[in-house]
Amino acid sequence: SENQKSKIVNLQSSIKFVGVIGGGTMGSGIAQVAATAGCQVKLYDTNQAALDKAKAALEKILARLIEKGRIDLEEKNRIQNNISYVDSLKDLADSNLTIEAIIENIDIKKKVFSELESYVAEDCIIASNTSSLSIASIAASLKKPKRCVGIHFFNPAPLMQLVEVIPAIQTSYETLEKAIDTIASWKKTVAVAKDTPGFIVNRVARPFYGEALRIYEEGIANFETIDSAMKDLGGFRMGPFELMDFIGNDVNYTVTETVFTAFYFDPRYKPSFTQKRFSEAGYLGRKSGIGYYEYDANGKIVVS
Ligand code: NAI
Repeated sequence: SENQKSKIVNLQSSIKFVGVIGGGTMGSGIAQVAATAGCQVKLYDTNQAALDKAKAALEKILARLIEKGRIDLEEKNRIQNNISYVDSLKDLADSNLTIEAIIENIDIKKKVFSELESYVAEDCIIASNTSSLSIASIAASLKKPKRCVGIHFFNPAPLMQLVEVIPAIQTSYETLEKAIDTIASWKKTVAVAKDTPGFIVNRVARPFYGEALRIYEEGIANFETIDSAMKDLGGFRMGPFELMDFIGNDVNYTVTETVFTAFYFDPRYKPSFTQKRFSEAGYLGRKSGIGYYEYDANGKIVVS
């Protein structure tokens, strides 16, 4: 019947082969999400060490999920077998969807996108996980910019429910619809956002960090007091300083700086010297063992 036919068409057009570009924090998490949903994933990175790390991290995460009784061995094997680790962009040629999660640098992203487009099929969706760059500028590197869209996961991708999907002015309705359907089929909740600096979440979150830093700089309260006020008393899961340490002061500072610049230096988003100095000093947070707090080898705050 007509109904059955359209179902078959839908099945055929659904995303099965996914290429993830960049196997760092975000790329490895996105690969896990897609593989868990049943896609055949190829995770590509120029750095073999990053791929080895991603593979080892997945093994650890899945082993822990088995321990917790959340998945069984069969499910672990299924997820692992759905991901292959590749060191050539050409290997992504059969993808229906690619999601890029490499370094936050527009020139490098553009170069990768235009090379990628020469390998993949006409109808392959080419997406970026960028936090702060404009999707329009990334799309402009393609011959067919209408296939480009922002698909912005949050860290850690397997745990965070929300994904922002961002159409650029060049994005076709078909691309947007396919992106939304795919992410929803990966059991994530989609928020469609406009192509503006910080999209929704990273923009709303700016004053959370910014005002906390200003309160500290004005000598009103120290890090611990501000965090405890927000967390223990205010019901937030993490205080602003603990959260900045978790994200990384370098990353968090850069996003603030980008949003500030992109909004024509609107003082609402003004970055903080305190955070800049912490970042310059290498006090990045949990990943460097010290930020606003000190961390032990397990990433737990050392109470002094
Ligand atoms: P990361 O530094 O952990 O990983 C980036 C990976 O890309 C590295 O493994 C690196 O070897 C690889 N890479 C660099 N240049 C490459 C190239 N030309 N071709 C292939 N691989 C290349 O970075 P992270 O944190 O995963 O961020 C990636 C992207 O995701 C950025 O655009 C960032 O803004 C965005 N993002 C980051 C979030 C976070 O909390 N870290 C949250 C949401 C988005």
